[in-house]
Amino acid sequence: MRCLRPLASASLLVAASFFARPANAAPATDRNWYRNAVIYEIYPRSFGDTDGNGIGDINGITKHLDYLKRLGVDAFWLTPIYPSPQVDFGYDISNYEAIDPQYGTMADFDRMMAEAKRRGLRVIMDMVLNHTSDQDPWFIESQSSKTNSKANWYIWHDGKPNGQPPNNWQSIFGHSAWTYVPARKQWYYHAFYKQQPDLNWRNPEVRKAMYAQMRFWLDKGVAGFRLDAITSLFEDIALKDEPYLSGTNAYGDKNISRIYTDNLPEVHEVLRELRKVVEPYNAILIGETYLPNVQQLAKMYGKNNDELQLPMDTQVGFINKLSVADFRAKLNDAETKINGQPPLLVFANHDNPRVLNRYADGKEDPEISKLIATILLAPGGAALIYYGQELGMTDNPPKRIEDVQDPIGKLGWPKEKGRDEERTPMQWTNSVDAGFSTAQRPWLPINPNFKTINVAAEESQPGSVLNYFKKLIQLRKDSAQLRSGEFALIASDNNDVLSFLRKTADGKAVLIACNFTGRPQTLSFDLQSHGIQGKHLRTLASSFPNANPADVSHVTLPAHGSYVAQIEP
Ligand code: NOJ
Repeated sequence: MRCLRPLASASLLVAASFFARPANAAPATDRNWYRNAVIYEIYPRSFGDTDGNGIGDINGITKHLDYLKRLGVDAFWLTPIYPSPQVDFGYDISNYEAIDPQYGTMADFDRMMAEAKRRGLRVIMDMVLNHTSDQDPWFIESQSSKTNSKANWYIWHDGKPNGQPPNNWQSIFGHSAWTYVPARKQWYYHAFYKQQPDLNWRNPEVRKAMYAQMRFWLDKGVAGFRLDAITSLFEDIALKDEPYLSGTNAYGDKNISRIYTDNLPEVHEVLRELRKVVEPYNAILIGETYLPNVQQLAKMYGKNNDELQLPMDTQVGFINKLSVADFRAKLNDAETKINGQPPLLVFANHDNPRVLNRYADGKEDPEISKLIATILLAPGGAALIYYGQELGMTDNPPKRIEDVQDPIGKLGWPKEKGRDEERTPMQWTNSVDAGFSTAQRPWLPINPNFKTINVAAEESQPGSVLNYFKKLIQLRKDSAQLRSGEFALIASDNNDVLSFLRKTADGKAVLIACNFTGRPQTLSFDLQSHGIQGKHLRTLASSFPNANPADVSHVTLPAHGSYVAQIEP
């Protein structure tokens, strides 16, 4: 199990001017756009390759913007495209104000921005604040001596007298989190790979320099940032050992509880500063927040709603089993226990097995894709779609260690095969390389199921997973209830069906029901007890054909069927 995956043990000075509005600020009128936005995650390496080298590029994103427009999303988030040695495929940044040549040029980026804007699509950049690459000039200087101008920009400590590292802290990617540098006779801390040294966020100069780098992109008109590993920013100053838990992880290390290196209270101070950086631009902050409960999640918005606008809610999306009781509890938390703030529901991303590999035993099951789409898109709040999720793409795990690209897959093989499996190229067509590239060998092999699971095929099939996503995304725009209605679980007699309402103050309501079993189910309920008057159900969307319920007191759903209906007089 990967530690950054939720399946695992859980993982001042910013006086940004509030007076001058930056030229590229989004219009203040729609500053709440994110509250019910659909955000699409693009892994640029795997989206579209226009120069035929087997690696996706920025022009490959621009090429497919019309697709995103047709899908109906509001914004897309790009995982890092900055110059990088690519040890962690871009999460090791060596220059925060440029584009990695393997993805294109700044001119390509500017063109992508302009084309996105023309289509009304917002662009969200990934921002890695916790660490840089060890090839970043800051670290190169910092490691050179104890007296250089960046000497205190990273987390440096003396080792133990016996030559051992300062304490037992472990890298999330396996083994000790400390690496020794002879030039300083000291160790530096890295929460991830040793090529990703952690910055010292207690140093005001680091903060100032990072905020300036963020403003570089804000000035280019980006709509916000997804803050990588944001809960890892601080470590215990007294360097206390983490407590051990039972058992070992995939790398053979003893399991530990990260109480001294994760989610320290100081994180909130930085989040408030970051908010001040983005606020003048009407930009947003999304947080990579794998948190153990809704109380912790609620704190990420800040006591005065002055921290993250959209911390990721991984409580709902990573339940990882079709359990109605668990979904009822977690959805209710997300919808009612974060002080009226919107959750960002996330079921999949580039660090975790795809939806079907967690909810359908790896079987290609369009009905389950649609069921998860319904739970993602019908509640209130914002929703994240991981590229290919809207097609029902599945994982394609490497068969041999020799084929693995992700370093954690090499280190942890065979228990941990790495994240290649969920990062395979986007499936556009049923022709060469699934329309992703023309290379002999794309950087990761195309999933063999591309012949049937691809954009071209699914756009032409009315009942496809893709068309179901499109339908639900459009409904979120058209229906006042789905846009802003209050969420209420339905008291029902059937524990195999997840059902809830979205209702507006005018008494109108939409009913949502999902059958979690492989057998047909009938659900009876009493809407009057929810203060809803109505006799008929008008189908808005269904994962199955001919959905025509007789009256408002019950619905019948086929195996794993999903149903969305307007309640009418
Ligand atoms: C979280 C990112 O999503 C992941 O891909 C990366 O490896 C780590 N943070 C380290 O930056």
